[in-house]
Amino acid sequence: MQPLKNDLLLRALRQENVERPPVWMMRQAGRYLPEYLKLKEKYDFFTRVQTPELAAEITLQPIQLVGVDAAIIFSDILVIPQAMGLEVLMEEGKGPSLPNVIKTQKDINSLFIDGVEEKLNYVTKAISLTKQELNGRIPLIGFAGAPFTILCYMIEGKGSKTWEKAKQFCFTQPALAHQLLQKITNATINYLKAQSKAGADVLQVFDSWSGCLSPDDFKLFAQSYLIQIADALKDDAPVILFPKGSWYALKELSESSASGLGIDWCISPAIARDMTGNKITLQGNFDPAKLLLPIPEIKKAVKEMIDRFGVKGYIANLGHGITPNIPVDNAKAFVDAVKEYGLP
Ligand code: CP3
Repeated sequence: MQPLKNDLLLRALRQENVERPPVWMMRQAGRYLPEYLKLKEKYDFFTRVQTPELAAEITLQPIQLVGVDAAIIFSDILVIPQAMGLEVLMEEGKGPSLPNVIKTQKDINSLFIDGVEEKLNYVTKAISLTKQELNGRIPLIGFAGAPFTILCYMIEGKGSKTWEKAKQFCFTQPALAHQLLQKITNATINYLKAQSKAGADVLQVFDSWSGCLSPDDFKLFAQSYLIQIADALKDDAPVILFPKGSWYALKELSESSASGLGIDWCISPAIARDMTGNKITLQGNFDPAKLLLPIPEIKKAVKEMIDRFGVKGYIANLGHGITPNIPVDNAKAFVDAVKEYGLP
């Protein structure tokens, strides 16, 4: 494989010295980009995800348009429940829905693990194609949803503010919940290994909804599975775990075999560094809503953020995905501000 021309992200994950932190944005390929919206008019969501040429094209859009230091493959965390045998619909304005939710032992038994990575070969094809097109310019990030977040969708059947049904399932039927979490974990490990083999340089695990759990419940229903995934992939690629909202777990996760931890804006850089020492690289944590500030204020806030995290062992990013209402120029100002860091 070709050596990378810009390997800032990989060096940051190894906590090596860097000229400046690398920068990318969660959900950087998506609806704030007019070029993405043009493709969205022509092809429905899963056609965009399942056609390697389209997925590769969308993955590359933010590289040219906003100049990030890493690409993240265009896909979705819900391809795993789909490949395990559940129907997943993506309805405009409504978000995802799964008409057949998991309720019983029989439902869990009917989920596939074997062959999931073959069913998702459109993702590995999109990764190979994107790597060819990137031609070593910057690294490519592969990803999957974390087991707890995937369980949330499998039980609720749609998004939720409280994830009450998913939590009820975990608390009242823990044996079933652990069976389900373990099945998702096994499928996810195979899937992420396939992404690494296809050329993904870094793997991120999104635990978008783990923050709805108390520290004790996080340990039971989220942390142990995140750690299994990080351990299983430690010889494949550096792993970034992003348990959104679960700041209380940073110390223990910093002792795992992951290389990076994502954090949101609800924890200060100083406290996050305090909890993790210099054991692990931190990624985050700009509030995406601050991208609506005037550009000079965005730049000032980015500089302050880097000063607070420090340049070493740090990946500049948002604290959650960029939202569709952000002007492209403001997203670019965020990226430019990181690139200008340290310049006179
Ligand atoms: O650059 C990128 O990061 C794009 C690739 C990407 C998508 N989804 C494309 C997408 C990634 C990394 C995801 C991850 C994802 N999907 C997460 C974890 C990250 C997070 O934000 O917490 C979650 C929870 C999902 C599930 C999901 N997919 C939801 C809740 C929705 C609807 C709400 C929304 O954000 O639009 C989706 C649909 C989706 N996935 C869209 C995109 C670009 C929007 C639909 C469309 O463009 O037609």
